[in-house]
This record gives sequence, C-alpha cells and structure tokens, in this order.
Amino acid sequence: QDGSGKGAAMVTAVAQRLALQSHLDLLMKDLIKGLGKHSHHKAAVKMLPTFVRSTPDGTEHGDFLALDLGGTNFRVLHVRVLEEEKVVDILGSQTCSISQDIMLGTGEQLFDHIAACLADFISSQNLKEQTLPLGFTFSFPCEQKKIDESILIRWTKGFNCSGVEGRDIVQLLKEAVQRRGVSECDFTIGSVAMVNDTVGTMMSCGYRDQSCEIGLIIGTGTNACYMEEMRNVKRVEGEDGRMCINTEWGGFGDDGTLENIITDIDRTIDQTSIKPGVHIFEKMISGMYLGELVRLLLVKLTEQKLLFKGQRSTTLLTAGTFPTKFISEIEEPLSGLENAKRILSSLNVPYDFVDARIVRLVCDTVSSRSARLCAAALATVANRIRVNRGLKHLKTTVGVDGTVYKKHPNFSDELQAMVRLLAPDCDVTFILSQDGSGKGAAMVTAVAQRLALQSH
Ligand code: BG6
Ligand code: GLC
Repeated sequence: QDGSGKGAAMVTAVAQRLALQSHLDLLMKDLIKGLGKHSHHKAAVKMLPTFVRSTPDGTEHGDFLALDLGGTNFRVLHVRVLEEEKVVDILGSQTCSISQDIMLGTGEQLFDHIAACLADFISSQNLKEQTLPLGFTFSFPCEQKKIDESILIRWTKGFNCSGVEGRDIVQLLKEAVQRRGVSECDFTIGSVAMVNDTVGTMMSCGYRDQSCEIGLIIGTGTNACYMEEMRNVKRVEGEDGRMCINTEWGGFGDDGTLENIITDIDRTIDQTSIKPGVHIFEKMISGMYLGELVRLLLVKLTEQKLLFKGQRSTTLLTAGTFPTKFISEIEEPLSGLENAKRILSSLNVPYDFVDARIVRLVCDTVSSRSARLCAAALATVANRIRVNRGLKHLKTTVGVDGTVYKKHPNFSDELQAMVRLLAPDCDVTFILSQDGSGKGAAMVTAVAQRLALQSH
C-alpha cells in the first residue's frame, strides 16, 4: 500500500475504534452490574454463575450421554472422554428435528419429544442396560442453583414453549422420562449436568488448550462465557478460585443502552419477533436475524427507488425469504456476484448488474456490523479478565462455535482483526470447536465427577 493508502486505513481504524469504544465502556459497566448480588433480576446482561469452577485438567475420562438443544439442530450424543489421548470421541449421535409446533407448543410436548428422542437413541446404541451420566447443553438463559438445577429465565431464539419459564429444566426432563410410563420405561438417566452452549464450547476446547477460558457462540444466537474471579461473583458464596460466568450478552441493550445505534430496521426486527424487547444485542448480530435485516433493508431501498427500479416483489416482501446463508453466499469473494444474481432471480426481483453489487454491499454492511459489535463485546470480556488478574498483557484463548462464524466467508477475519484493534493489550487466540457443545457437556459432567471424587 502507498503512504496515503496506509494513512487512510489508519484513520479508518482509529475512527472505528472510537466509534466502538463507548460500547465497550457501556458493556463493561453492565458486566459489573450483572455480577452484583441482587441487581441481576433487573440487569440487562445477566452474568449467570454456571457452577463450573474448573476447566479440564486432562485427567477426566468416561462415557456420557449428551443432549444439545438450542442451536440449528437438536442432537443426542454418546460421548467418550479418553484421558490418555486427551480426546473426546463421539461414539454415536442422532439429530432429531424440532418442528415449529413444538417450539411454540407446551413445555410438556417439548420434553416428551426430547425424552422420546433420547429413548430412541439409547435403544439404537444398545445402552439400555447402562445408566450413563448426562450432560444437557441447553442454550438458553438459566439461573443455575447448582450444576443439576437450572431454572429457565426466559426463552430466546424463537422458542416459546408454555409452562417452562421459571421451572427447573432437570426436573422437567426427569418428569418427561417418568411420564413415558411403566410400559415404555425403557431407560433411566443418571446424574445430570446442565450446560450453556458457550460453556460446552469453552470446555471442549479447554481439554486441548488449558488457556481456553472464554467460550463464544455466533450462530442462531450469540453469547459468551468466561472464567471470572470468585471474589467478584457476589451471588455465590466463596472467595477463592474462579467460576465460569455465562454473560448472556445477547441481552445487552434491553434497558435502552443501545438506543443511539439502533436503527428503524432493528426496531422492526424486534417488534415482529416472538419476544419483543428482549435480547436486543443478539437481534443485531446473530444468524436468526441477519438475513431478515438484509431483506428489510432491500425492501426499504426498493421503496426509495434505489434498487430494482423501485419494483416490488411479493417474494421479497414476505418475511423469512432471505435466510442468513444467502449473505454468506453473496459475500463469497469469487462466486459472490454470480450467487447474488441466482438468489435475486429466485426472489423474483428485476435486477441489473448495479443492483447485484448494491445487494452485495448491503450484505457486507449488515455482516460487518455484526462482526464489529461482537468484537467489541469480546474485547470487553478479554479486558475484564486482564484487569481482574492485574496483568499488563493477557494471553488467552477463545473457543468458538456457530454457523455465522463458521460459514460466513470473512466474518471470523473481521472479528479477529477488530478484537486486536480494540483490545491491544490482549493476545487472543481463536480455536474452532467441532461438536463443541456435545463434547463440552460431557466434559462438564466429567469435571464435576472429578471434583466430587477429589473432595471425598
Ligand atoms: C453447535 C452446538 O455446534 O453450535 C450448539 O452444538 C450451539 O449447541 C451451536 O448452539 C451454535 O450454532 P448454531 O449456528 O447451530 O446456532
Ligand atoms: C441465546 C441464548 C444463550 C445462548 C446463545 C447462543 O442468546 O439466550 O443462552 O448461549 O443464544 O446459542
């Protein structure tokens, strides 16, 4: 790059940093507020204790069942943790679909369905004779009282089953297994450990890299967890050591903090969602909403006659016709424009070459905003760990999962570059998690067992 090019890049970088700096400060305030003894009921960022006090030390082992609910797929897994090789093997897994009817039905229907999938899997894997410990990755905000008691605070990401908020998920699962009745009493479940997907992701990466102390998800929803000093976790007794905190940063902005950056389109997304007013930050970032954000922007630009010669298309006017995966396809460096044309044809819009390029720019704007907001949040968490430990410089690892991070062509690059810019005193390594939550749930169960044994 020539001198003026570099200069311009520097100016842009500084401007970006300044623009995001105020959000970093606001989020840091919210993190601290959420950790307070009583304030969390009102706090937008819930900062939930997970009762995971230790990352894996590499001596964990055994066979486990895992359930994984809340991402793109609902899965049941049979997992083996092998101490010698330091690996977590998936011995078998099954994906079960969760229909829209179940997502919006009663809690009883949901848990009956989960128990039925579990029963099917156990019988197909010939595990009926064993009572394996179960790790349940339940990717929703829960107030945990202990590792096996987890009360759903509220549904997020399009789930809204009645009679579950405020109830203990472990209890609901056990009741559903019992409801299967004597005739169908085909299996029993052992001890249960409840895990958020961020925690599962951190723990599964932590088995390979013990400096992994942040878990990050950018998929259907977005969230992060990290290891916090116990002395700062006011809601749990004890001052020593650390505990993993599920930040539930998706709720950042629920108290109006983000008013100055929220657009009309964000408001529409929120108001037309299943749960208006909650998880505002998530609605600007995660895969469940990015496609719809782009679609609404395209509709707006069409109304302003800046696209498609102002001609409306019924398809484009219909909610849900622009899934988030279109953004990734359109932003592909080589095939992006061709993909854009194919997608625009399928949406029945009369486009020309310039339209296709504008659509690509819209996708880039929406996904870049998402990556930057996420980077600002992650930089805040990394800085929090650094300051907690009184360090000038922190070297840390983040375990990451989620379709947006994994499938979008440059989301991860942009996120990482932005984190470097916003947290210059933190050297952050990113590890992609494979099957993180399932393996991580097994890991949490295994660590809980190790700690229980050590304390005897
Ligand atoms: C998966 C985990 O790998 O990542 C899920 O197993 C998690 O539990 C998910 O929720 C996040 O990604 P997505 O895109 O499926 O929501
Ligand atoms: C939502 C959930 C949170 C989860 C995240 C990513 O924000 O509330 O618990 O971790 O989605 O799946």
